[in-house]
Amino acid sequence: MLNRRNMLALGGLTGASILLPPDAAVAALAPDGDPARRRRGSRPDDRVHVPPFSVEMPLPPVARPVAVRRDADVYRIRIRNARVEVVPRLLTPVMSFGGGFVGPTIMARTGRKVIVKYRNELDEPANVHVHGLHVPASSDGHPMDVIQPGGVREYVYPNGQQGATLWYHDHSHHTEAQHVYAGLHGFYLIHDPSERRYGLPSGRYDVPIMIRDALITPTGKLAYDVPDTRNMLLANGRPQPYFRVAARKYRFRLLNGTTHRLFRLNLGGVPMIQIGSDGGLLPAPQEMRELLISSGERADVVVDFGRFRPGRRVVMYDTSGAVMCFDVVHRVEDPSRVPDELRPLPDLPEPTVTRDVVFDLQLTPPQPKYLMNDQVFDHDRVDFRVRRGTTEIWRIHNADVELGGINHTFHLHLEQFRVLDRDGAAPWPSDRGRKDTIYVPPGQSARVKVRFTEYLGKYVYHCHFLDHSSLGMMAQLEVVP
Ligand code: C2O
Ligand code: CU
Repeated sequence: MLNRRNMLALGGLTGASILLPPDAAVAALAPDGDPARRRRGSRPDDRVHVPPFSVEMPLPPVARPVAVRRDADVYRIRIRNARVEVVPRLLTPVMSFGGGFVGPTIMARTGRKVIVKYRNELDEPANVHVHGLHVPASSDGHPMDVIQPGGVREYVYPNGQQGATLWYHDHSHHTEAQHVYAGLHGFYLIHDPSERRYGLPSGRYDVPIMIRDALITPTGKLAYDVPDTRNMLLANGRPQPYFRVAARKYRFRLLNGTTHRLFRLNLGGVPMIQIGSDGGLLPAPQEMRELLISSGERADVVVDFGRFRPGRRVVMYDTSGAVMCFDVVHRVEDPSRVPDELRPLPDLPEPTVTRDVVFDLQLTPPQPKYLMNDQVFDHDRVDFRVRRGTTEIWRIHNADVELGGINHTFHLHLEQFRVLDRDGAAPWPSDRGRKDTIYVPPGQSARVKVRFTEYLGKYVYHCHFLDHSSLGMMAQLEVVP
């Protein structure tokens, strides 16, 4: 039989996620092509609904340093329980960084150190990983390296990388999925002064947007249930909000902050000019009609509202419905631009090592197993020993084709990689640039190339459907001299 925990992790079967009543036999799993069946099993009055575009999208607060030292900006953030308004006039208990549902945005600068001192005021262990950051192992937020309740912990981030849209979230082993779902997430943006010359929209026209889902009960509880029950789409923590824009270009830093979901985003025909992906700017902008973003991935896009009159509404849709809308309210000067060429991608050295990573969720009774390379995560085991300075090719394969298939999303800590190909064919448009996370559909493979640079120590790589990684779909590498 499937237990509750395993049930939670089974969502995200391709196209047609299956929702089973708790304790359904494994044998009952069957391919299901009908999206209308996704929500089978949850009663409609279990959840609240908010009319679309009735609340305003907030901007997450920007973290203010408690000290600006010669060598570093120092922040202090409490990890604590809070009650926030997600749905209007209803308070929802969440876990938070600093008291808000989306944590304070940490604004870092290339080449300048950031130190964050966290105090864990929850009654359970938690920790912090900055997703996409190139960082010494001691500050990476390894799943076993947690902050005990009442404890404090200082993370030191060198920020020796180019400008990028990163995010920080809990990574405490076995509880990361619940914790991130409950609100332990926020933006970590690196600004690179050398990128100012591109003239991209900046300041108030550079807007981070965390998109995630939620299931909120009529009493305001944020319920952690099977991913497919999460009917509400949130942008920066509010359901299907509106956002007022001027008739000009904006840079939106889109993050899929779900624990377990693929978004296919479009603006109803309005083009999105993608300028960046996980690890920073692309070599050149590319016009996208649809953005595929899996859990943990980011896409930086420029949208030009300059051709619209005030009064025009542009809706952002996912295939599952409207995410939010942009309401054009007034005209304004627009000195920003999107140059034809952005940041070049330097060549990586010739790879000398090739490795395979295979995702395999075994549904065989009595207990499903969440495997990478036939094993569940064991922090005492080093799966890959990597020599510092080496360039490697990793072939990521999703072996889960049975029962209609199960989606997985690969994430590597420490280094950004480049996608070389997908089953021998060209990478997808969404694979361009520096990536740390990619979606791999059932039965398919992707090859990525990565160079391990200066840092030594143990880091993890895992499925970024956190409902999978928390059950063991994770492994460990060690960089050695
Ligand atoms: Cu976004 Cu290992 O995590
Ligand atoms: Cu997975």
